[in-house]
Amino acid sequence: MAAHTIILGIESSCDDTSASISRDFEILSNVTANQSIHEQYGGVVPELASRSHQENIVPVVEAAIKKAGISISEIDAVAFTQGPGLLGSLVVGASFAKSFALARNIPLLAVHHMKAHILAHFINDSNKQKPPFPFLCLTVSGGHTQIVKVESASKMTVLGKTIDDAAGEAFDKSAKMLGLPYPGGPLIDKFSKLGDSTKFKFSKPRIQGLDFSFSGLKTSILYTIRDQVKLNSNFIEENKMDLCASIQSTIIQLLMEKIEKAVKETGITHVAIAGGVSANSGLREALEKKNEQDWTTYVPKFEFCTDNAAMIAIAGKFLINEKQFANQQVVAKARIDW
Ligand code: KG4
Ligand code: ZN
Repeated sequence: MAAHTIILGIESSCDDTSASISRDFEILSNVTANQSIHEQYGGVVPELASRSHQENIVPVVEAAIKKAGISISEIDAVAFTQGPGLLGSLVVGASFAKSFALARNIPLLAVHHMKAHILAHFINDSNKQKPPFPFLCLTVSGGHTQIVKVESASKMTVLGKTIDDAAGEAFDKSAKMLGLPYPGGPLIDKFSKLGDSTKFKFSKPRIQGLDFSFSGLKTSILYTIRDQVKLNSNFIEENKMDLCASIQSTIIQLLMEKIEKAVKETGITHVAIAGGVSANSGLREALEKKNEQDWTTYVPKFEFCTDNAAMIAIAGKFLINEKQFANQQVVAKARIDW
């Protein structure tokens, strides 16, 4: 391999088809095709997602290579998301990556999607400090909510996780109750900025240890809306901003309480966030405020919070360093251990 390692990263675990070219820990390009088709269904329809991945994968990879200003022959290895995710979606990326590696006779790297969200913190960025090992990472996405102890790029232990919905799901399902389109998380974030977060109080669960639960909150929001709409059919419209601000603030409180507990229990004060919900401005602010106390916090660049192939390419670079290569027998998996 040349002095520098050029990796093609492929991400297709949910509804975004993404391809990226990295040179060592630098991102040369990161191109994503979003699937707006799911908006009208209020969530991701797996069959439609895999169909769109098939249509998008070749143009997205071509665009990533072109944008990076390299030729195909310069690519040293291909990294893809093996899982967790929607199987029909993962299979498209996995099959593409296997064929690409076989045709070009280059190494294949099978990446764990959630580990990749965490490893996005190691993308070269002159404005950002990289977290030192060990650090804690709150990984919050549409499918996962976990507190992870990160001892190295390969040694990660889940200290706590959600026992029902993920934080992203809590945002999306609440948004749906307010009549907002999918994915509702970014819209709740936007409307929250204009609302009063103390206007509505929702019940918060008492879950032992470092685990999370969001299903009680969902019910509490549902009952509030149901009772108030009976009294005023325009309740949601008239209170949209305050409802969003109150929902967002409750979700953030639930997340922050547990990460604070994890810091106390482990004594680790380097704390990062990762995954789609780490794009949330309220969560980013809550974490950054902790910098003023005795924590050192790490918030990913906005474009590397939600699903992207740049994080897959970077995770691939770590796999090369550890000589963890996949072979042509590798298969996509909806569920994968840490
Ligand atoms: O990591 P991601 O792109 O996909 C999964 O691996 O699940 O996360 C998607 C989730 C969705 O639930 C979406 O609503 C949420 O991240 N999300 C947000 C924001 N941006 C994305 N939630 C709250 N505020 C945001 N700004
Ligand atoms: Zn994700």
